[in-house]
Amino acid sequence: MKIVLLADLHGNMVATEAIAREIDRIRPDEIWFLGDAVGKGPESDKTCDWVRQNCHRCIAGNWDRGLSQNRAGQPFYAAQIGEERFAWLDALPLEDELELSGFRFRLVHGRFLDPLYQSFDADSQLMEGLRFHDGRPDANGLICADSHRPFVRPLVGGYAMNTGSVGNSISLPRAHALLLEGEKGPAPLRMTILSVPYDNHAAAERADLFPDLPMKAAYQREVLTGIYSR
Ligand SMILES: [Fe+2]
Repeated sequence: MKIVLLADLHGNMVATEAIAREIDRIRPDEIWFLGDAVGKGPESDKTCDWVRQNCHRCIAGNWDRGLSQNRAGQPFYAAQIGEERFAWLDALPLEDELELSGFRFRLVHGRFLDPLYQSFDADSQLMEGLRFHDGRPDANGLICADSHRPFVRPLVGGYAMNTGSVGNSISLPRAHALLLEGEKGPAPLRMTILSVPYDNHAAAERADLFPDLPMKAAYQREVLTGIYSR
């Protein structure tokens, strides 16, 4: 069983097409989306549609919910995303779970539920994520996104992983995702960070075609350098 988990496409179709080519090569059984299809980049409509067409399981991110709740204050995104896509985004759950190779992973976008699930957090803080929303203490893994930095970290009692970001990666401006390979029941588990180069200059130039894109210069600097610029 091969599962690709990805998140934070953020309107960057150049990066999305690059990770899609790598996914085609890997041929996973399923693709799971951990939130933030939209916002920041110039083509939120297209990255949202890519998620809808290609991902088998989806949860919402803070930008998916935030833009939907502030359409009046974000006219560029509101017009581009449109009511039909917002309705789809609004219907996404905030949490999911994945059982693989004897692990039960809790899946959340990250900051939308709790600001603690960040890549720079101490183990003790990440371990707060090893607890399901219903309070059951039997989760033995956490997979999140939101910080735009991928990681795989062993904790006492489980693993914490972050998908990184497809379209707005911070630290290294490459398209990131996670590949999990395992089986039903206790079995070896392989946890791989996918790091895919893409044409960063083409992604930055794509934004120039959209004069009304909010904070365009920050987005362009981020896709060119990986330095957080907002
Ligand atoms: Fe994000």
